[in-house]
Amino acid sequence: MKVGIIGASGFVGGELLRLLINHSQVELTIATSRTYKGQFLYKIHPNLKGFTDLKFSSFDNSKVLDNCDLVFTAAPHGSSFEFMNQLANTGVKIIDMSADYRLDNSLSYDKWYGFAHPYPDLLKKFTFGLPEINRESIKSSNYVSTPGCTALTSILALAPLVNTNIIDNNDIIIDAKVGSSGAGVKPTIASHHANRYGVIRLYKPYAHRHTAEIDQELSKLSDTRVTASLSVHSVNLVRGILCTSYAHIKNAINEVDIWKNFRQFYSDSPFIRFIRDKKGLYRYPDPKILIGSNFCDIGFAYDKSASRLIVISSSDNLIKGAAGTAIQNMNLMSNFEETESLWTPGIHPL
Ligand SMILES: NC(=O)c1ccc[n+]([C@@H]2O[C@H](COP(=O)([O-])OP(=O)(O)OC[C@H]3O[C@@H](n4cnc5c(N)ncnc54)[C@H](OP(=O)(O)O)[C@@H]3O)[C@@H](O)[C@H]2O)c1
Repeated sequence: MKVGIIGASGFVGGELLRLLINHSQVELTIATSRTYKGQFLYKIHPNLKGFTDLKFSSFDNSKVLDNCDLVFTAAPHGSSFEFMNQLANTGVKIIDMSADYRLDNSLSYDKWYGFAHPYPDLLKKFTFGLPEINRESIKSSNYVSTPGCTALTSILALAPLVNTNIIDNNDIIIDAKVGSSGAGVKPTIASHHANRYGVIRLYKPYAHRHTAEIDQELSKLSDTRVTASLSVHSVNLVRGILCTSYAHIKNAINEVDIWKNFRQFYSDSPFIRFIRDKKGLYRYPDPKILIGSNFCDIGFAYDKSASRLIVISSSDNLIKGAAGTAIQNMNLMSNFEETESLWTPGIHPL
């Protein structure tokens, strides 16, 4: 299958390239960057030296039809509006990484992103690309939108609980910690080493945009609407996300049943691992051992005295939180093995 990437010089683009190079069914044909067009990929992604002779090119819609069966779009949110309509007209399959096609209701973009969605009809054609929840609809979709990294890590922690009506849907608090690569390759004052190094910085106590995706997808799994509170912190990591979610248990339940619930819900999901150990360093999910892998690790602790379940979930924001899930979506859309090019453990120690 011939595959192109728009926005291939960014962090997510780089990881898409690295993973797709080893995909047995994929030939990389186009990798765009307006800044680096004409340069070899390895000039910007030095880890790829020796693996591909491809060069960055500028986006040319007329070349897409002949050279691509599927295109990943990994440009910053808002910028896809410049090319998505044109791209969709070529008839190629599309997997978008931005937030531009994640929300079902076009009017939600006014509230969460501050603009009216310019292509509400195209928006309706996109499937929310979280394989663990939407596997069957992804298989039959031509347009898939990959979730935000914090949204994905939160949804995976809470989905089995809202689905079985165990927790109070209006009393969910998610405390998220994210590494600096989550903000993309373009430097800002907040990402300047002097300002970013050593921080545990709460940058969004509430109303983080990923809350919209979390509420939307969890509500679909439940009888009643879910409203979660999400706080997001920048921490001193390059990559990795840790979400600690606090939920109020409605009726007393024992731990064995909670585990059963998780295992049942994810019985067909190769990239969900359950972390449960009474002793040792890695008793709970930890991004340190997930870097470079497509796993989302999930664990929990049950504070019976407070009727509170504390669910811990973790992923590599650039892999399970972006490029890995996007490739998992591609595998499903193309009838390839779901794990193709993704079945690898994280790096340890890092
Ligand atoms: N970083 C993460 O952890 C993460 C996780 C999940 C989802 N995402 C989403 O994935 C997308 C890519 O993220 P990223 O972190 O890789 O961003 P990034 O590092 O900033 O890279 C953005 C890429 O898009 C290109 N680009 C910028 N403006 C463009 C435009 N108007 N038209 C076409 N290409 C354009 C850039 O290259 P040129 O400017 O040279 O063209 C670059 O290759 C974003 O929408 C982001 O929200 C990111």
